Amino acid sequence: MEFNFTEEQLMIQESARDFAQNEIAPSAVERDIKAEFPYEIVKKMGELGFMGMMVPPEFGGAGLDTVSYVLAMIEISKVDASVGVIMSVNNSLVCYGLEKYGSPYIKEKYLIPLAKGEKLGAFALSEPEAGSDATKQKTTADKDGNYYVLNGIKNWITNGTTADYVLVMATTDKSKGHKGISTFVVEKGYEGFGHGVKEDKLGIRSSDTCSLTFENCRVPAQNLVWEEGKGFNFAMNTLNGGRIGIAAQAIGIAEASLEAALKYSKQRKAFGQEIANFQAIQFKLADMAVKVDAAKLLTLKAAALKDAAKPYYKEAAMAKLYASKIAVECALEAIQIHGGYGYVREYLVERYLRDAKITEIYEGTSEIQRIVIARALLDQK
Ligand code: CAA
Ligand code: FAD
Repeated sequence: MEFNFTEEQLMIQESARDFAQNEIAPSAVERDIKAEFPYEIVKKMGELGFMGMMVPPEFGGAGLDTVSYVLAMIEISKVDASVGVIMSVNNSLVCYGLEKYGSPYIKEKYLIPLAKGEKLGAFALSEPEAGSDATKQKTTADKDGNYYVLNGIKNWITNGTTADYVLVMATTDKSKGHKGISTFVVEKGYEGFGHGVKEDKLGIRSSDTCSLTFENCRVPAQNLVWEEGKGFNFAMNTLNGGRIGIAAQAIGIAEASLEAALKYSKQRKAFGQEIANFQAIQFKLADMAVKVDAAKLLTLKAAALKDAAKPYYKEAAMAKLYASKIAVECALEAIQIHGGYGYVREYLVERYLRDAKITEIYEGTSEIQRIVIARALLDQK
């Protein structure tokens, strides 16, 4: 594995860092409090190429590798994990899925504007009774001439109220179980497609999460992605890359926690000296630094494997499992190091904890990542 980043990768990292510090940080606290979606920020990110980073230029993207994407995701999520998840869904679930499996028509009509950041995407797999147990899809898509008619409910959809295009998994043939699931591009504004109210969340509050409803929603047959019955494989294959994105999001939160803890421990005095002089504090900082680096190595390994077109699903699950765990741990330790000040909004670390928790839940809970890893180890996949 290569430990030196290329000049291009370092340049992407730096430009993401500059953008995050200058354009995202100033409004992050207020957007968290008010649960406000970062419309202007997402628009600018599109203009800078951050919404379709890995898509080839002929389809409107920046044509970068997954390692660059990970470096950028870390910088953005370090400042605001809400923006991180919006970016992650558009890049690694929606754009990747359409680039890999979309027809020429779908690429032209949907991928190009999504990769350019002119349109925003969402990925709708989860349902009220099909979260971890994702094969138990109840949403149906019945063929009717040149259309599929969708009926059902999707739950917890990131970018749900804001997305222009949603990738929806639905059952086209119930008798075939998960091999009867298909994926469709559904446009905002199609008749019969609606959404619920925005969820009032613990963390990533500035991101937009809601349920989606389909009531006799007619979707043109040419919006079928890949082919009938391939929708579950589509979702799983796409989620492997998504899990790298969420691992990077978690690392961003963990790194922000470490930096905040380092800064505060050198400012705060107790018993006549900086608390950074106490070994108990130093050990916490040391442990946090080890965890952040270990999570980065796992995540970059998964990204490098993906870039080399080698199998990476196990490594992606390992990266997400570990990075999400240490994000929660680092945020908790950062609060501990801040004492009472860590528990209030005046300092940022309480948000880091609230934002960190979701990384252990979405794109497959930690329990599901362990299932994926164990099955790979036991050769059961
Ligand atoms: N990569 C590729 N294929 C995979 C896969 C992976 N990681 N995991 C499973 N599959 C494939 C299997 O190979 C199998 O394919 P075939 O039938 O073609 O052989 C198919 O999926 C079914 O697999 P299983 O028989 O193992 O199915 P299962 O029901 O026992 O378990 C599961 C599957 C791994 C638990 C799966 O349901 C899962 O990953 N659940 C979690 C769902 C999830 O991650 N949801 C995220 C929603 S999106 C989101 O959350 C976005 C966001 O927040 C921002
Ligand atoms: P359940 O599946 O009901 O799980 C409940 C608990 O049981 C968990 O701890 C789980 O790990 C455990 N469990 C379940 N099965 C097993 C097992 N076999 N072994 C051991 N433990 C098990 N989904 C989308 O499709 N698109 C999105 O954009 C999206 N964004 C989201 C944004 C937010 C803020 C949230 C909260 C969720 C989002 N999700 C999205 C849904 C998310 O992927 C699911 O919440 C997640 O997959 C878990 O499903 P569930 O909530 O139904 O929990």
